[in-house]
Amino acid sequence: MTESELPPDVPPDAATRAAALREILVEANRRYYEEADPTLSDFEYDEFLRELEALEAAHPSLAAADSPTQTVGWAAGRAVSSLFAKVTHRLPMLSLANTTSAEDIDEWRAAMEEHHLGATFEPRFTVEPKVDGVAIELIYEDGRLTVAATRGDGTTGEDVTANVMTIRTIPRTLSGSPPSLLEVRGEIYMDKADFEQLNRELQERGEDGKANPRNFTSGSLKQKDPRRTAERPLTMMCYGLGQVDWGDDAPDSWSAARERLRAFGLPVAPDALFGLTDSLDVAQRTVLDMQERRDELEFEIDGAVLKVDHYALRRQLGARSRSPRWAVAYKFPPREGRTVVEEIFVSVGRTGALTPVAVLKPLPLGGVTVTHTTLHNRHEIERLDVRVGDSVVVIRAGDVIPKIVKVLRDLRPAETESFAWPEACPVCGAAVDAAEGEPLSYCTNLACPQQVKGRLQHFGSRRAMDIEGLGDKLVEQIVDVLGVSDPSGVYRLTLEQLSELDRMAEKSAQNVLAQIEVSRTRPLSRFLYGLGIRHAGESVARDIAKHLGTLERVRSADVEALLDVSGVGDVVAESVVKFFGEPRNAAVIDALIAAGVAPVAEEALVVEGVLAGKTVVFTGALERLTRDGAKDVTRRHGGKATSTVSKKTDLVVAGPGAGSKLEKAQRLEIEVLDEEAFLRLVGEWEPE
Ligand code: IVH
Repeated sequence: MTESELPPDVPPDAATRAAALREILVEANRRYYEEADPTLSDFEYDEFLRELEALEAAHPSLAAADSPTQTVGWAAGRAVSSLFAKVTHRLPMLSLANTTSAEDIDEWRAAMEEHHLGATFEPRFTVEPKVDGVAIELIYEDGRLTVAATRGDGTTGEDVTANVMTIRTIPRTLSGSPPSLLEVRGEIYMDKADFEQLNRELQERGEDGKANPRNFTSGSLKQKDPRRTAERPLTMMCYGLGQVDWGDDAPDSWSAARERLRAFGLPVAPDALFGLTDSLDVAQRTVLDMQERRDELEFEIDGAVLKVDHYALRRQLGARSRSPRWAVAYKFPPREGRTVVEEIFVSVGRTGALTPVAVLKPLPLGGVTVTHTTLHNRHEIERLDVRVGDSVVVIRAGDVIPKIVKVLRDLRPAETESFAWPEACPVCGAAVDAAEGEPLSYCTNLACPQQVKGRLQHFGSRRAMDIEGLGDKLVEQIVDVLGVSDPSGVYRLTLEQLSELDRMAEKSAQNVLAQIEVSRTRPLSRFLYGLGIRHAGESVARDIAKHLGTLERVRSADVEALLDVSGVGDVVAESVVKFFGEPRNAAVIDALIAAGVAPVAEEALVVEGVLAGKTVVFTGALERLTRDGAKDVTRRHGGKATSTVSKKTDLVVAGPGAGSKLEKAQRLEIEVLDEEAFLRLVGEWEPE
């Protein structure tokens, strides 16, 4: 728009800004819907949209029918992708208004109260997860799935029937006696774990990764060949209806309709994630509870949806241009964002492994500010081709450490350079050993100060010797100032030495020494784990300690003796023998023994437990147990906890939000218990 064309009441900068915002949003829509490869995070998109809405509200002459504020999905007039046939929805597929605070929710209620007709306004609300996937409409005629269509621009979507037919959890024929026409709407999505794995595979093949499970889902639905879609582990959650010929048997509310859908065999939100209440306060608490449990769920949710339950009241309240008045989305803080890589450096770990780290322009994400992310290894840098100056998409999902999932190549500044991998250790300058084809390269100098520090930190860590007070800062000083070069040095530290260190009062020095003292008699498994033997993680260390009983026997065991330990294979056995055979390591262990370190034998192996010999998988949210706690309980009763369901799994413990693992367990007819039943089984259930 040039200035002379401006409507008279609009200050030029508002008009220019609105035009720019529209352009950004239209392009973002195109990238999102047509290419399944967004340029903006949801959060950024919402921010721009809100700003444009505010501008249009302040300057009504700026509003246009084809503004992104007036349309859902594709901007009106944009071509629906020509690959798939068009489907016109009998009833428009609307979007949801977003809120992010309790006040917003109160406002929502007040706005509804203004619009309702009755004497009193006493609605009942449902609360459901807002699944981060792709909206879809399924049309069942006489109980058979005939059409599946994307939302498109809300009026017209794309026919993706052939692809949707490959999704196992979507029934092709309904059970019971469904109405002659049933249009059901929901979200197609993918579990977080499946996304991670598929993304890794994609990038290993040299293709661009997807920023999140939603983009992957969207891409999967747009495959030309349904066989490709069939390979993707997609699933669905139904959250509403389109047109339905119920006859004279119509349910009067969404909660009632949901039960019908469930009886027809359609997937709906699990009961543990579905709230029904008269009280908006209770509804809000349910929302916050979902936000807290977000990380434990197997699938990504980006918010919760509050809806008026009764259809009669919904009809009265009606809709605005984009969204119904009777529903609102409460958006959780974003966990995906875009930022810029400011620097890439290489750090050295306790094994000497060189790990590249990206320093990021600080990015607030889901309640923390992300400033660094690991790039894992040389291959990862090459795979992403990430460079200093690049704009990148970072996600922080669940317990996952923030990571770069995608480089936005379009935004790469001119004259960037591929990262040059160091030829010498960046800490000590020693040669780097990089085996051909191996992702990791190592600093070859065992005395490299950074390696020494890493080994000491690991030795003293909570899961190893558990020496409280021996944190990163202290380790740094005892190596740099006191010249400690291996774990035995820790046991020779004196009060005088420690008290001289920076920020170390005599009292804290005494505490540290007391902690060091009690660690002399930790269980053998912790000691072995603390040595940081390659391939000997916590559970292997435990198996070895239990089987062989004493440090002397472990030290002198040959490969044969180690192979007798269940859970130990060739790689571990050889690594352990090699470790103890290395003269420097033998000297450190001698020195530890001389310094009074005397690891104690493990308690006898549990063979009598109810779970003896059983493999257990935990999935979904657990209320009583933490993940580590669940593993401990399993172990205490003789079982073993693993993370994937297979024919070898004996028992699956499923909590709210369980998804693909639970399905698999059911398919393989594996026993499934909920958390309470599991705790009762092992005799550890305690009523609250
Ligand atoms: S209800 C007219 N319920 O979020 C209201 N939507 O931002 C229709 N979504 O288009 C939507 N989970 O694709 C509803 N439990 C849920 C949802 C949900 C995810 C998606 C849906 C919708 C978008 C709005």
